[in-house]
Amino acid sequence: MTATIAPHGGTLINRLVQGEERERLLAEAKSYDQLKINAWTVSDLDLIGVGAFSPLTGFMNEEDYHSVVERMRLADGTVWSIPITLAVQPHIAEGFKQGQKVALVGEQDGVLYGVIEVQSIYNVDQKNEAVKVFKTDDTAHPGVQKLFSRPSTYIGGPVQVLNRPKPEKFGEFYFDPAQTRQIFAEKGWRTVVGFQTRNPVHRAHEYIQKCALEIVDALFLNPLVGETKSDDISADIRMRSYQVLLNNYYPKDRVFFGVFPAAMRYAGPREAIFHAMVRKNYGCTHFIVGRDHAGVGDYYGTYEAQEIFRNFTAEELGITPLFFEHSFFCTKCGNMASSKTCPHGKEDHLHLSGTKVRAMLRNGECPPPQFSRPEVAKILIEGMAEQLEAAKQ
Ligand code: ADX
Repeated sequence: MTATIAPHGGTLINRLVQGEERERLLAEAKSYDQLKINAWTVSDLDLIGVGAFSPLTGFMNEEDYHSVVERMRLADGTVWSIPITLAVQPHIAEGFKQGQKVALVGEQDGVLYGVIEVQSIYNVDQKNEAVKVFKTDDTAHPGVQKLFSRPSTYIGGPVQVLNRPKPEKFGEFYFDPAQTRQIFAEKGWRTVVGFQTRNPVHRAHEYIQKCALEIVDALFLNPLVGETKSDDISADIRMRSYQVLLNNYYPKDRVFFGVFPAAMRYAGPREAIFHAMVRKNYGCTHFIVGRDHAGVGDYYGTYEAQEIFRNFTAEELGITPLFFEHSFFCTKCGNMASSKTCPHGKEDHLHLSGTKVRAMLRNGECPPPQFSRPEVAKILIEGMAEQLEAAKQ
């Protein structure tokens, strides 16, 4: 078997409790104080549990939190750009003591997902967190809005996972980092490039993926399927579009498809670092960062998510980022290109905004094949029509 890249921090964290120990803890946790957690926190907890967020073993304590917010590193210096925190109503946090174990229970389904050993209870300045992490405190920014909707008291400490969230659909595409690492090794892939997306894969995405695929052994198409903002195309519809695209246009023996069940933060540059570290944990050696990665509105410069990587050495990152310029179809070149490879002007480049494309799809119109593969457009049109129909009922 081929060796895989070391996880971030050196060890793949595993906080899943199984067998007798799980039975024991499930029984013991009945006497613990309970904390209700929402779907976003359930997803964070699970991703910590399976080691996707290695080296995190739990929700951040005060020291790591401040270090991450202020200098994009954990307290021990390891690169980490996004706070992973557990927000608690202050009156509830008041009742907790350091060293106490608290049961984490899904607010929707009452499932006991895990326990946290409270090491740190702290109040934060969310405005500062917003400005440092999102580069804005504008509440029109979806990540800032989410942040401000949470209490500003956090509890930190190691977690143990007792139950896993069950995907409603597409369960066959959920893989834990230990599994993807093993699969990549078994396939003999020495280099694997990870691709993050919260969108359908259009021709520009396909172009940069395939440019990368020309120089590495394999592509890990790893769309984010956790919480996204309401006007993003739903994961359900996207999943069908990825499958039809892969079946028609990608080499089966060089592509692996699995979802990333995390919430989207829309933190642009900082989220690009986070996305890269997490994909390293899944076993990727390379990671694609194109234009305005994880961006929203015009809060970030087009290439800021690439520039931020300069703050860290190659050794600290471990994974190699592959940067791509804004890509488009050029009518004069007759192919996909970027300003690095195309000499023609903007008037020769096909440009369609995301808003325009979504409007076309909603109206049942196919965007040009130079923008989106017809098979993909068809699925998106059908999916959106179904969604509109369902919304009417
Ligand atoms: S993201 O929010 O998940 O980053 P998106 O699905 O839009 O969103 O992008 C996935 C990846 O493709 C990101 O690395 C992004 O920078 C890149 N990308 C998207 N569109 C283009 C494009 N036209 N040219 C170059 N890179 C792009």
